Amino acid sequence: MSTGLRLLRGGLVATPEGVMPGDILVQGEWIVAVGPDLEASGATVVHCGGLVALPGAVDAHVHLREPGAEHKEDFTTGTRAALAGGYTTVLDMPNSPVPTSSLSAFAAKADLARAKACCDFGLFFGATPANMGEATEVAGAVGLKLYMGSSTGDLLVADLAHQYRHFASYPRDRILAVHAEDEEAVRTFSEEERRPPICAELAVARAIALARRTGRRLHVCHVSTAAELDAIRLARAQGLAVTCEVTPHHLFLNRTDEARLGPLALMNPPLRSPEDQEALWERLDEVDIVASDHAPHTLEEKSGSLPPAGVPGLETTLPLLLDAVAGGRLSLPHLVRLTAARPAALYRLPHKGRLAPGYHADIALIELQSETALGTDLKTKCGWSPFQGRRVRGRIVRVILRGEDAMVEGELLADPGRGRLVTPRPS
Ligand code: DOR
Ligand code: ZN
Ligand code: ZN
Repeated sequence: MSTGLRLLRGGLVATPEGVMPGDILVQGEWIVAVGPDLEASGATVVHCGGLVALPGAVDAHVHLREPGAEHKEDFTTGTRAALAGGYTTVLDMPNSPVPTSSLSAFAAKADLARAKACCDFGLFFGATPANMGEATEVAGAVGLKLYMGSSTGDLLVADLAHQYRHFASYPRDRILAVHAEDEEAVRTFSEEERRPPICAELAVARAIALARRTGRRLHVCHVSTAAELDAIRLARAQGLAVTCEVTPHHLFLNRTDEARLGPLALMNPPLRSPEDQEALWERLDEVDIVASDHAPHTLEEKSGSLPPAGVPGLETTLPLLLDAVAGGRLSLPHLVRLTAARPAALYRLPHKGRLAPGYHADIALIELQSETALGTDLKTKCGWSPFQGRRVRGRIVRVILRGEDAMVEGELLADPGRGRLVTPRPS
């Protein structure tokens, strides 16, 4: 008879602090013990010799496109891609064609996602020049996303007065996350260069000044330049609570890849100089989160005359980071902090982001040394990756979501409806 107990035996366990041999005992949805040589009578044993267990990754920045752009992605295909890529929780951005910027749109998206998602998910609320009240009232959003410059979709709060009102009114204990490219700068420089670094630099400076003025915390999405990191470092030294994230495309690609990739390398903010790319790596200790910014568009759209900005990333981010571990550029505990522990803690996601008793049994089992080619057998609806063909070391063998197998050897086992809405723990 099944006891509902599973014992993951004989692997290595990666935590934010270190990597050690250990077993993981799972009961139902929960991790109940982690340690050497665990015994549990009646438990089903999963043999993990040669494997590393990571906490199921938490992607704090994805665009799953519903409602309104289901031809690019939907909650089922996007969360299948997440599971294939080692993610068990994704935080969805509000810039869908029907933007998540009213109470009714938020409730409708939550219902839709509950029915269709295969992994757990949280939802951002989107700022508009007029919705400070609803942004404050909405229950269950993981945070407020404010576009200081325009990007895909219509969400935009470009002027200082409305930005200030959101900074001043959004609850202090919640995350206000900015797309930091200054709209006026984007326009001013557009004839010379598409979204040059000064656009990001100006927006980050303004967001920090607003955070100082209003005494609130701030999260800067997809930092791509050394200048932004400088501004954030200074703000922190002055006592401000500023956190930030970087994307895999800004870590693993730079401007010189644009010639080869064409519109497949087009995203906001754009790819930067090799020097900026190098600075992100050298200063990865100053970065809180690596988030994919999974932003799928179809190949047809990408090869049109006005290609949209954005690249998919859910299936390639963890393998790329694991390859950096294999190459000695990143430690496993640091990878765990960047992809699971820190995003879960920052967004206060209950029971997520760690392999420890009392946490959800969200686990990715990894074979560190096996080499694979990226971009084969993609689950994302868009069907392409800017990293297609790149060979990496580090293969995701199995993904467990709240105690149950969700992906084994590339086969997806979680049905639509399995994913649960994740809402932040009250502070
Ligand atoms: O490149 C991007 N694509 N940047 C964004 O800010 C939005 C995203 C999208 O939704 O396509
Ligand atoms: Zn953005
Ligand atoms: Zn984004």
